[in-house]
Amino acid sequence: MAEPGPTPLVRTQGLSRDFAVGGGMFGRRRVLQAVREVTLDVPRGRVTGVVGESGCGKSTLARLVLRLLDASAGSVHFEGIDLAGLPAGELRRLRRRMQMVFQDPYSSIDPRYTVREALREPFRIQGVAQSPAQATAAVARLLDIVGLSAALADSYPHQLSGGQKQRVGIARALALEPDFLVLDEPTASLDVSIQAQIVALLERLRAELGLTYLFISHDLGLVRYFCDRVVVMYLGSIVEILPEARATPRHPYTRALLDSVFEPDPTRRRRVARLTGEIPDAFDPPPGCAFAARCAHADELCRQQRPSLATAAGHAVACHHPLS
Ligand SMILES: Nc1ncnc2c1ncn2[C@@H]1O[C@H](COP(=O)(O)OP(=O)(O)OP(=O)(O)O)[C@@H](O)[C@H]1O
Ligand code: SF4
Ligand SMILES: [Mg+2]
Repeated sequence: MAEPGPTPLVRTQGLSRDFAVGGGMFGRRRVLQAVREVTLDVPRGRVTGVVGESGCGKSTLARLVLRLLDASAGSVHFEGIDLAGLPAGELRRLRRRMQMVFQDPYSSIDPRYTVREALREPFRIQGVAQSPAQATAAVARLLDIVGLSAALADSYPHQLSGGQKQRVGIARALALEPDFLVLDEPTASLDVSIQAQIVALLERLRAELGLTYLFISHDLGLVRYFCDRVVVMYLGSIVEILPEARATPRHPYTRALLDSVFEPDPTRRRRVARLTGEIPDAFDPPPGCAFAARCAHADELCRQQRPSLATAAGHAVACHHPLS
């Protein structure tokens, strides 16, 4: 019998979230399934990437995993503990161990705060008492680990560059010494050269602090570079899980995403199949495969029956006709 693997740090099972929109005076109440039955393990000490186009449910999944949002169905376990069953006090204590880094780090910080105040806030929220000397030391330590000068402590966000602001966002997420970071497009609004610096910083921090990451991006090229495993989402569902970032995709959607990754050679660029066609209406998903309208391999079976996620040798694909 195969040895059971180590328990993942985070495990989601059948995780789903619906949003009801409209109703009342504004017409018909419609329900959108932002995340549909996501079952996923996040192994400890590794980087799990989540990739997909805008609106496919990445940020909703991120918020569900951290229980910043309640699920409509399914569960999230952190080290085997069901987050839904936890009393508020225990959830708050566990929250110290899981943090989020946002695309725009100051979206969740008062813009009137200096860097020092922004970095002290997590301690205040968690009720961690600090003497003035301890607070000063903690701010200095956090600035140092993200490669920022201590002289920036009294700066306001408008005085910082985009890269510096994101370093503050990362420092803030690290303030309470978490184990798990959910990084929601942390480099999406940065210039390419600054993006590379932030990715290098995240890599160093993961190795030095033994962190586990769930790294969300719409950029498959970046995810394949940075992540150990890649989860591909389409219209709220997982359509493929690459067990290694370099594994050859078997789902036509992932293949198309890969083909539309920036190809510097203009003679090749014309030959690659670009991702064309519309994403279906999330309020009215098709009965079969959600990708069928954009897929060159779609047949009657695809249009009628939704493919389920099937795993072979750790590689999961939801497709009736997976590519070889
Ligand atoms: N609070 C909400 N109320 C209603 N619909 C919502 C809400 N939050 C998200 N949605 C919808 O759920 C779907 C998934 O949104 P989500 O923000 O998770 O996508 P995403 O993959 O993060 O997109 P992006 O790449 O643009 O950040 C979208 O159709 C979105 O409009
Ligand atoms: S199930 Fe059919 S339509 Fe969907 S991705 Fe596979 S081949 Fe294409
Ligand atoms: Mg998002």
